[in-house]
Amino acid sequence: MMKKTIVAALSILACGTGWAADGTPATADAQRIKQGEYLSRAGDCIACHTAKDGKPFAGGLGIESPLGTIYSTNITPDKDTGIGNYTLEDFDRAVRHGVAKDGHSLYPAMPYTAYAKVTPDDVKALYAYFMHGVEPVKQANKDTDITWPLSMRWPLGVWRWMFAPDVVTAPVTAPASDADKVALLRGQYLVEGLGHCSTCHTPRGFALQEKALTDADGSAFLSGGVVEGWLAKNLRGDMTDGLGSWSKEDIAAFLKSGRNGHSAAFGGMAQVVQDSTQHLTDADVNAIAVYLKSLPPVNKNATKPLAYNDTVAQALRTGKDTSDGAMTFLNNCAACHRSTGKGYAETFPQLALSSTVNSADPASLIHIVLKGAQMPGTSAAPTAYAMPGFDWRLTDKEVADVVTFVRASWGNEGAAVSASDVAKVRKDVGAAKAPVR
Ligand code: HEC
Ligand code: HEC
Ligand code: HEC
Repeated sequence: MMKKTIVAALSILACGTGWAADGTPATADAQRIKQGEYLSRAGDCIACHTAKDGKPFAGGLGIESPLGTIYSTNITPDKDTGIGNYTLEDFDRAVRHGVAKDGHSLYPAMPYTAYAKVTPDDVKALYAYFMHGVEPVKQANKDTDITWPLSMRWPLGVWRWMFAPDVVTAPVTAPASDADKVALLRGQYLVEGLGHCSTCHTPRGFALQEKALTDADGSAFLSGGVVEGWLAKNLRGDMTDGLGSWSKEDIAAFLKSGRNGHSAAFGGMAQVVQDSTQHLTDADVNAIAVYLKSLPPVNKNATKPLAYNDTVAQALRTGKDTSDGAMTFLNNCAACHRSTGKGYAETFPQLALSSTVNSADPASLIHIVLKGAQMPGTSAAPTAYAMPGFDWRLTDKEVADVVTFVRASWGNEGAAVSASDVAKVRKDVGAAKAPVR
């Protein structure tokens, strides 16, 4: 250890920058680059900065916004088209303050309001990784599809002034002897900062700003938001639609493997698990779980968990429930999710007591029935089971019937869904036209 430090120190003295004459990083720098790579996973930079089938971090992914399409930029160290000429200060200004090197404000599609929470040391490690650990790629940035006058960038500066938080100057720590507090603070740091969980999981206000950036801003924080037609669920302590009935271990397993006894990841969360959370250390995943479990419910009175009820399972088994919803369920869903609604753990998620099923907003439930979904394949659970889409097979009324049936069975307590709710989602998510009966 001692030796390594001395060697690193000497190499820094030797060439000022910490880089050996042949261009290979000295030990301390190699470690910083590795740390930066880990942090880039925690920040999921790759998800937005890589186009479909594109080179890693070369940008060009279109991100839909109410104004038009915003394209992510090339953040490889290419000097002409990427960020190869960015100093640490330039990089910091973009990542934490939302201002590009030439001074223009970035669209908040780049989650700099969350990254403002990243410590200066971690920014340094990220910078080292992007300068020396990422392959430079020559690929010019695309302009946004936003038309004038909305394309003017100066209002973004006003937005920044109104909504961006101050950047963090030093880490918030607890004495090492208080292991619980250390984990809680680490989890908070990852969730609020690099994890930018709130960009999807917090509802947005009139100017598309997140209604809360931390728990201290109010219980809107992580209380659920809609992204690309999926409901990024309530992650607070609510019993029926939040994480109230999930243990710390359940949350950790979900983030690590993409599934647990309650649910499996789909929609935007499948990619978050795939690119980001599965790569985190057990300690970090546990810290996130500890922090999420500390968030009080939005509805302080809803403290009673749902309880399983087998009336419907028995009626289905004995052929007594012949309602349209029950028949559609038996013909299309029961093979995987079973007539008990309990599915097969970690393969076909349970529908009984599921937070997807019981959320007040049925967006995800209708969306998954129409378009299907695929779990992430992770190193902890490599098989990416998929659910087929029923858009081409079921009419709006049939989908409404089956979803209403699921929301009222096995102890679930979701409100009924109408055919016009389904028609709207079918249009919004670009599902196939309904079959004509
Ligand atoms: C949710 C999507 C998203 C994530 C995640 C994301 N970015 Fe971005 N980023 C963008 C978009 C979109 C832009 C371009 C914004 C614009 O043009 O106004 C951008 C711009 C940038 C810029 C400015 C580049 C330039 O040309 O000036 C840098 C630097 C950057 N991102 C670094 C990162 C890093 C580092 C991470 C991970 C810690 C990251 N981004 C994660 C969407 C994202
Ligand atoms: C790109 C948007 C996005 C980001 C970023 C995101 N999530 Fe999610 N998340 C979703 C969506 C959509 C769902 C609902 C689908 C599902 O349950 O898999 C979800 C579901 C979840 C669930 C399951 C909840 C349940 O009741 O079934 C957990 C736990 C979760 N997210 C945690 C996190 C954490 C922790 C972070 C930050 C590290 C995060 N998410 C970041 C979109 C996102
Ligand atoms: C071939 C097996 C199969 C069939 C048939 C099927 N599903 Fe699924 N279902 C799955 C799988 C696999 C997942 C997990 C998908 C993921 O996480 O991406 C899933 C996930 C779900 C979820 C999300 C549960 C959660 O919280 O994670 C709901 C709700 C759901 N299915 C409802 C239905 C309904 C309603 C039908 C009938 C119209 C149906 N499924 C038919 C396999 C199936």
